[in-house]
Amino acid sequence: MPADDSPTGLSQPLYLCVADELGQLIAQGQLAAGERLPSVRELSQRRGLSPTTALAALRALEQRGWVEARPQSGYYVRPKLRRLAEPATSRPPSAARPVTVGSIAARLLAASNEPGIIGFGAAIPEADWYPVATLQRLASQAARRHRLLIGEYSPFFGLPALRHQIARRYAELGIAVDDDEVVITNGCMEAINLALRTVAAPGAVIAVESPTYYGLLQLIEAQGMQALEIPTHARDGLSVEALATALTGPQGAQIRACVVTPAFCNPIGALMPEAAREALVALCRQHRIALIEDDVYGELDFAGQRPLPARYWDRSGNVLLCGSFSKSLAPGARIGWLLAGRHRDAVRMRKFTTSAGTALVYQHALSAYLETQAYPRHLVRLRRLCATNVARYIEAIERYFPAGTRVTRPSGGFVVWVELPRGTDTLALYERALFRRINFAPGPLFSASGRYRNCLRLNAGRQWTPDVDGALQALGRLVEAG
Ligand SMILES: Cc1ncc(COP(=O)(O)O)c(C=O)c1O
Repeated sequence: MPADDSPTGLSQPLYLCVADELGQLIAQGQLAAGERLPSVRELSQRRGLSPTTALAALRALEQRGWVEARPQSGYYVRPKLRRLAEPATSRPPSAARPVTVGSIAARLLAASNEPGIIGFGAAIPEADWYPVATLQRLASQAARRHRLLIGEYSPFFGLPALRHQIARRYAELGIAVDDDEVVITNGCMEAINLALRTVAAPGAVIAVESPTYYGLLQLIEAQGMQALEIPTHARDGLSVEALATALTGPQGAQIRACVVTPAFCNPIGALMPEAAREALVALCRQHRIALIEDDVYGELDFAGQRPLPARYWDRSGNVLLCGSFSKSLAPGARIGWLLAGRHRDAVRMRKFTTSAGTALVYQHALSAYLETQAYPRHLVRLRRLCATNVARYIEAIERYFPAGTRVTRPSGGFVVWVELPRGTDTLALYERALFRRINFAPGPLFSASGRYRNCLRLNAGRQWTPDVDGALQALGRLVEAG
């Protein structure tokens, strides 16, 4: 089975792929300012390119302003205009509160479906970054072969073969999971929903990263729970010390769970260091609160070293691990999973009363896909695409956004969090941008306390094109105009 749907794995001309790779080396500092790039001859020999393609790649980089041509000498990396700082650690209020992000979220979701929008709003990569044709073929094969997929109920907790494949992938990380523990869900959202409702009741306080994924805030809102926002660092994620302080504070006894995305959280893309992940597991256990781990971005690390989920350090069954294929393989399939540790029986009961199963066709297709070596190969390509694109988006923000802007530098995933100069109102900016057919996710969506009004999240999973470049430039101008 082919790993990719196109020979290069990219839906753009070869010279642009080469320009992207060189651009990534520049963005990551491996080719420093003032350094000479390989000549046309060197580039074509090393990469097996025609001289015309090599020259086109260098010219594309020149057009982007990353390199300059020096007569008789070659192409050189231009000094960076500036490097924007990262946002500081967040400082949310120390009291929990009910959540009301539903109306902003509804507006955002509606706008992301409008035709002709340059969509930096929803966190989703290009469809052709996924092996769509292969999965389509596997899905139709499954539908043809297994007549009973339509004619009978699916197993309530998921297709055994798929549950086995998921358990096997965790085993490869050194995490022992029984196939039986895996409950297949309708995406990661259903997994988090089941986990939350299993360990907490309406009125309970749930500790979350600040900022955090708005879907989680909406779940907390829908359950009548309260969110306690915990300070979060742009690179290192949730502060375990701050959570410890909250647990011994006035509302400590009401905290029932902590929901965290240790690897490349949304919207800031931070990765908690290993020691912090381990300490978090120990802290939650010590205070007898459940740790709900959202691992939906875990496969998307740029360095190819998949971070260990917090569950790795769990010896007491206190971690409820939620995942899905939505970011890494097939967003439309809506296939996720929940490993609920010691809560597994309660979760099974809830799964039954919530959706009584998950449609089988894509479970078969994904299970067949996972049986081959196609998935690891696909991930190599997807990570490279994410890394290249994130670097280009950050570069464009540095070029086009006004002084005082800050930006995150995630090491995985495909979202970028931008802190704009004080006084910028991204809810107002959102309307102005939408008028120009540009969409993004305004900051307050990611907070229970209406914070981050001067912040926005950009989906960097859109393939780089002149339109994307133009839209980021236009957005920078709108910010500047205030
Ligand atoms: C952090 C996080 N968790 C969960 C989800 C939802 O995942 P799924 O589409 O599998 O339901 C998302 C989607 O954006 C997300 O960003």
